[in-house]
Amino acid sequence: MNSLAQQATAPTPLMQIAGVTKRYGGLVALNNVSLELTQGEIIGLIGPNGAGKTTLVNVITGVQQPDEGEILFEGKRIDRAPAYQIARRGIGRTFQIVQPFPRMTVLENVAAGAMFAGKAHSVAEAMDRASACLAFVGLTAMTSMPASQLTLPGRKRLELAKGLATNPRLLLLDEVNAGLNATEIEGALDLIKAIAARGITIVLIEHLMKVVMRASSRIVVLHQGVLIADGQPANVIRDPQVVEAYLGADYRHAEATG
Ligand SMILES: Nc1ncnc2c1ncn2[C@@H]1O[C@H](COP(=O)(O)OP(=O)(O)O)[C@@H](O)[C@H]1O
Ligand SMILES: [Mg+2]
Repeated sequence: MNSLAQQATAPTPLMQIAGVTKRYGGLVALNNVSLELTQGEIIGLIGPNGAGKTTLVNVITGVQQPDEGEILFEGKRIDRAPAYQIARRGIGRTFQIVQPFPRMTVLENVAAGAMFAGKAHSVAEAMDRASACLAFVGLTAMTSMPASQLTLPGRKRLELAKGLATNPRLLLLDEVNAGLNATEIEGALDLIKAIAARGITIVLIEHLMKVVMRASSRIVVLHQGVLIADGQPANVIRDPQVVEAYLGADYRHAEATG
């Protein structure tokens, strides 16, 4: 069996996921998933609850290891590397369930992210980087607050700032907009586009199809651990399998153009 590393001839994709399977006991959370990410894309990752989206983020970031398959980042295997090493290589994420260190300030929480990824050589440097990231996400006014005092939109922005503080080349956003109102979502969309404009490749896990359609250059669909579609947004939302599994028959008329 040839490994992907030996086959590479064309320009190396940013990430190659090949035949990744992850089981929890008898449950197959990811079933032979293969996917390539190209630098500069915003990839919308959608699918019903329980489809395996967060599990995919977890195996990419080393929180969990796949049972089968390979993951290469910039041509190098990462699927057996520990999470901190993967962060250091340039893969950042946000967590669907936001859990800041409650008693640390907002600034300290972000600085901790920078330290984890080894992107700061001193605490002072980590704090500087954290300040810049907080400014970028619009949280400068909350810098010195205990993180526990942030509202949900604030905690979501804190997650983004933590992810950015690791200085990633690939950033995985796990439902970073969930629970936000329409105005807050507009702000979040602008932010995601601004991050992409810095050259950071983004995987966006998102339930709101309006947001997915506006942000994504490509959409990937998971259903019961299986990757059932991967392509241009306009094509993917018309795919009968995707309509059946996720969008519902009314979707194309009701929302796609909204
Ligand atoms: N740590 C775990 N232990 C056991 N089952 C899990 C674990 N994490 C996720 N699962 C199961 O794996 C499936 C995929 O979950 P998840 O990746 O969180 O889906 P999604 O993010 O798409 O909603 C679900 O059936 C979920 O219950
Ligand atoms: Mg999830």
